[in-house]
Amino acid sequence: MIGEKKVLFSGMQATGSLTLGNYLGALKNWVSLSEEYECFYSVVDMHSITIRQDAPQLRKRARDLLTLYIAAGLDPEKNCIYYQSHVSGHAELAWILNCFTYMGELNRMTQFKDKAARHADNINAGLYTYPVLMAADILLYQTDVVPVGNDQLQHLELTRDIAQRFNSIYGEVFTIPEPYIGRVGARIMSLQNPSKKMSKSDENPNASIYLMDDPDTVIRKCKRAVTDSEGVIAYREEQPGLRNLIDIYCACTDRTPEETVKEFDGRGYGEFKMAVGEAVVGVLKPLQERYVRLSQDKELIDRVIKENAEKAGYYAQKTLRKVQKKVGFPERIR
Ligand code: TYM
Repeated sequence: MIGEKKVLFSGMQATGSLTLGNYLGALKNWVSLSEEYECFYSVVDMHSITIRQDAPQLRKRARDLLTLYIAAGLDPEKNCIYYQSHVSGHAELAWILNCFTYMGELNRMTQFKDKAARHADNINAGLYTYPVLMAADILLYQTDVVPVGNDQLQHLELTRDIAQRFNSIYGEVFTIPEPYIGRVGARIMSLQNPSKKMSKSDENPNASIYLMDDPDTVIRKCKRAVTDSEGVIAYREEQPGLRNLIDIYCACTDRTPEETVKEFDGRGYGEFKMAVGEAVVGVLKPLQERYVRLSQDKELIDRVIKENAEKAGYYAQKTLRKVQKKVGFPERIR
C-alpha cells in the first residue's frame, strides 16, 4: 500500500513498434485501472538489451514509448512513468533474487525457449534470467496487481513463487502480486495466422496492426485478415480468425462477443471486417494525435522522466534496504 491505495506495476519493452495486441492486452487496462491504484509504469529498457540493439535507436524508442504511455491516457502527474534503467534498484534486487531462483524454473519458461530459438546466435545469460529481472521490477514496489496480457502469466507465476520462497525464509518482506487480465483482448492473435499471438517481431507486416498505422493501412490489414469458409459470424474455437476479429472489435468498442454476434447476424465477413477496421481506427486516431502533440513538448517529457525516476527510486530504495538487511549485507555507516 502507498497511502490509501494498493500498488500496481507494469511495463513494456521498447523494442519494435507497439502492436494493437500491446494496447488491447495491456495499455488499455493500465488506463482504466490508473485511478484506483498507485501506479508504476516502466519502460523496461534493461530487458530490451537481452536482444542486440542499436543504441541510438533504443534510446529513441524508449522515449517514444514513454510518450505513448501518456498519449494513451496515463496522467504523468498521478502515475509514475519512468525508465527502468534510471532506477538502479531493479538491477540490485534482480541480483539478489537470482540467488533465490532455480535453473530448473528458468528452464521451463516458454518465452525463453521461443526467444532462444529465434536468436540462436546470442543466447546470453540476460535472456535466461530475464524473468528474474521482471520479478525484481514487480517486487521492488510491493506490488499488489500486475495488468498484463496472457503471454506474461508464466513470468508472473514465477514472480509469486520467488516472493513466497523469500518470505518463507525471511518473514513477510514482499507483497505477493496478482495478475490482472482484461475481460477481452488478453491474447490478440496474428491477423495472418490466428494460432500465433500478434507480435512486434512478426516478419509479415500484414500480421500485426501497429499503433502508428494510418487508417487506410488498418482497414486494409483487417480486410486481408485470414478467416474461414464457414460464412457464419460466430464466436467459437473452430473459427479462430473470426474469433480474433470479434475480440478486437469487442475490446475497441466495449461490447461483449454475444452482443457482437447478434449485431452482425446474417451479415457477411466483408462487412464485419470493415466494421472491425473502423473500430480500430476509432481507437488509434485520437491516440496518434495526442502522441504527435506530446512528442513536441520536450519540456514536459523531460520533466516526467526526471521527476518520476526520483519518485520510483524513493520507493525502490525502501524495499531494497529491507531486503539487503534480511540477506545479511553489512549496514551502511553514515
Ligand atoms: P512486452 O513488451 O512483450 O508486452 C507488453 C504487454 O503487452 C502484452 N501483449 C499482448 N497482449 C495481448 N495480445 C497480444 N498479442 C500481446 N502481445 C503483447 C504483454 O502481455 C504485456 O503485458 N516482459 C514484459 C515486460 C515487463 C513487465 C515487467 C510486465 C518487464 N517487467 C513487469 C509486467 C511487469 C514484456 O516483454 O512485455
